[in-house]
Amino acid sequence: MTETFFVGIDGPAGSGKSSVSQQVARVLGFGYLDTGAVYRALAWHVVHLGYATDDETAVAAAFDAFEPRISLDPDVRDVRVGDVDVTSVIRSPETTAAVAGVARNLVVRERINHLFRAIVAEASYSGVVVEGRDITTVVAPDAPARILLTAHPDVRAARRSREMGSADVAAVAEAIRIRDASDATVSEFLTAAEGVDIVDTTHLNFEQSVEAVIAVIDGKRKGG
Ligand code: DC
Repeated sequence: MTETFFVGIDGPAGSGKSSVSQQVARVLGFGYLDTGAVYRALAWHVVHLGYATDDETAVAAAFDAFEPRISLDPDVRDVRVGDVDVTSVIRSPETTAAVAGVARNLVVRERINHLFRAIVAEASYSGVVVEGRDITTVVAPDAPARILLTAHPDVRAARRSREMGSADVAAVAEAIRIRDASDATVSEFLTAAEGVDIVDTTHLNFEQSVEAVIAVIDGKRKGG
C-alpha cells in the first residue's frame, strides 16, 4: 500500500486557508481535513458535558469520551460527535468563544495530533490536505508538502469582514488580532518553519491562491 500524500497547510484567519485548502483537495482528488473543525467539535463536546473549557483536567477527561467523525470529502462538510451532527453548531459564536480555551490545553493538543495522523493514515484517498495552525511544524514536520498561507493583516481583516457580512472592518481586524495572539501562545503560524513554503495571498485572488498552492505541491510530488 502506498502512503497517503500528506499536504500540511497552516495559516492565520483570513489567509484563505480553509477555502483554498478545500479547493486544492477537489482539484487534486485528495481528501480534506479541517483540523480546526475537530478542535471546535471538542469544544462543543466539553461545553455539552457542562465542563469549563479552562478546566484542564476536565477537558482532558472529556477527550476520553470524544468520538469525532469528520468527512474528508472536500464537497461534504459533515462533523459528528458520536451520533450528534455538530456541523453547524461548531460555527456558532458560543463554540467559537469556547474553542481557544480547549486549544490551549497541551494534553489535548498532543492527543488530538495523534488523532489527525491516524485519520490521514486510514484515509481512502491518495492524498489529504490537512489544514490548521501547527500542521507543518508539530503534526507533520516530515510531510512531503508543507505550506504556510499568509496575507497582510489588513487584507485578512477585509476578507473576514466580507465573509461575515460585517461592515466594521476595524472591529474584525481587532478580533483577528486578539485570536491570532491567543492561538500564537500554543502554535506558531505567523512565520514559516524551516523547509515550509510560504504562499503569500495578499495580492492573489482565490483562483491564483489555489494555483500557487498546487504549484508547490506539484513540485514536491515531482521530488522538488
Ligand atoms: O481554524 P478555526 O478557526 O476553525 O480553528 C478553531 C480553533 O482551533 C482556533 O482557536 C485555533 C485552534 N486550532 C489549533 O490550535 N490548531 C489547529 N491545528 C487547528 C485549530
